[in-house]
Amino acid sequence: MADFRAPQCAPIIRNMALLKILHYPDKRLNKVAKPVAVVDDRIRKLVADMAETMYSAPGVGLAATQVDVHERVIVIDVSDAHDELQVFINPEIVWESDALKEWEEGCLSVPGIYDFVERQEKVRVKALNEKGESFEIECEGLLAVCIQHEMDHLEGHVFVEYLSQLKQTRIRGKMKKLEKAL
Ligand code: NI
Repeated sequence: MADFRAPQCAPIIRNMALLKILHYPDKRLNKVAKPVAVVDDRIRKLVADMAETMYSAPGVGLAATQVDVHERVIVIDVSDAHDELQVFINPEIVWESDALKEWEEGCLSVPGIYDFVERQEKVRVKALNEKGESFEIECEGLLAVCIQHEMDHLEGHVFVEYLSQLKQTRIRGKMKKLEKAL
């Protein structure tokens, strides 16, 4: 997800690479990601590069799909100081609240576009961390929005798909202009 709060200084991370973020409506954003078989150094390098890419954007969340890696890896940092990285490998929602909440979302794959999406207010997520250890976390607020947004990416979905056809057409037009300008 894009971060539309004023960015602070990104943490200094060494030996990492910025990855290219795919932009909507790139078809590669519609690929369904495969589960990670082993959390090894290759995955840890991917996590580190994704974190650097997210902080540099700046954003509050990034799914591997967005950097054209179709494996189930997500990085999130919703802290004000941008110093609390959370890594979710093979995430699964094990419980969700009946209550829904509307939140204004943005996405690093759809730069400059923000709109309201309704999602579950709270979710409980089970995942592996970068050491391959299993954990569960109950998410609410921005973290709940972000994890659901990023898990959609792993299923090949971008948040604008929740908007009206008219809005999606307009957004695709804006993206075309942006790609030309780049
Ligand atoms: Ni996104």
